[in-house]
Amino acid sequence: MAADQRKEPGVVIKDGWSGYSLELFNYPEHYRGDLECVYVPHGVIMNRIECLARDILEDIGHHDLMVLCVLKGGYKFCSDLVESIKAQSRSANRRLTTRVEFIRFKSYLNDQSTEDLHIIGPDDLSVLKGKNVLIVEAIVDTGKTMRALLQHVETFQPKMVKVAGLLVKRVPHGAAELPDYVGFVIPNRFVVGYALDYNEYFRDLNHICVISETGKQKYKV
Ligand code: HPA
Ligand code: MG
Repeated sequence: MAADQRKEPGVVIKDGWSGYSLELFNYPEHYRGDLECVYVPHGVIMNRIECLARDILEDIGHHDLMVLCVLKGGYKFCSDLVESIKAQSRSANRRLTTRVEFIRFKSYLNDQSTEDLHIIGPDDLSVLKGKNVLIVEAIVDTGKTMRALLQHVETFQPKMVKVAGLLVKRVPHGAAELPDYVGFVIPNRFVVGYALDYNEYFRDLNHICVISETGKQKYKV
């Protein structure tokens, strides 16, 4: 079945999920005390990404792919996703070229979304014209960024646009529409790691974790 009909919710993490004890996992020493739990372990993220890559390849892998990575939070997801798409394409003896462009938004201060949303990316995305575009975002909550980005991308007249979101957060007034490819649907908690930050900290953590009160205070601006 094509992704158009599928739109799977991904792996759904329930509201009561309190994560794994930090004692059970390896993580950087410098974040000791700053985290509450491991929410999604790195290995689980990687395996889920392989599945998303498989689905993407199945649906749109017969075209050349223009990937639009939403920085900074999306850089790890994008990199691992593209690598997995390439690896699976190679082992299936398929010919697929991938190109990655980058775009940036700024909208978060501490753990709160600020109202104004602006694109700090290349003004000219005319390379997207006539292409199959895959937007890669680490996290989708209100869907505001995704909508703004879709609108922006459409002005460059791509042939097709799909969205891959590693995490979809269940927030009040959440995104009306899911991304085409979803890694995990998570409760409304602020998470860090795997390139997701809290005031630029925790991007260097491989697991997706929940930050502790101590961590929040320590890195507050
Ligand atoms: N963590 C980090 N960045 C974010 C989040 C989050 O939970 N939600 C939106 N941006
Ligand atoms: Mg951020």
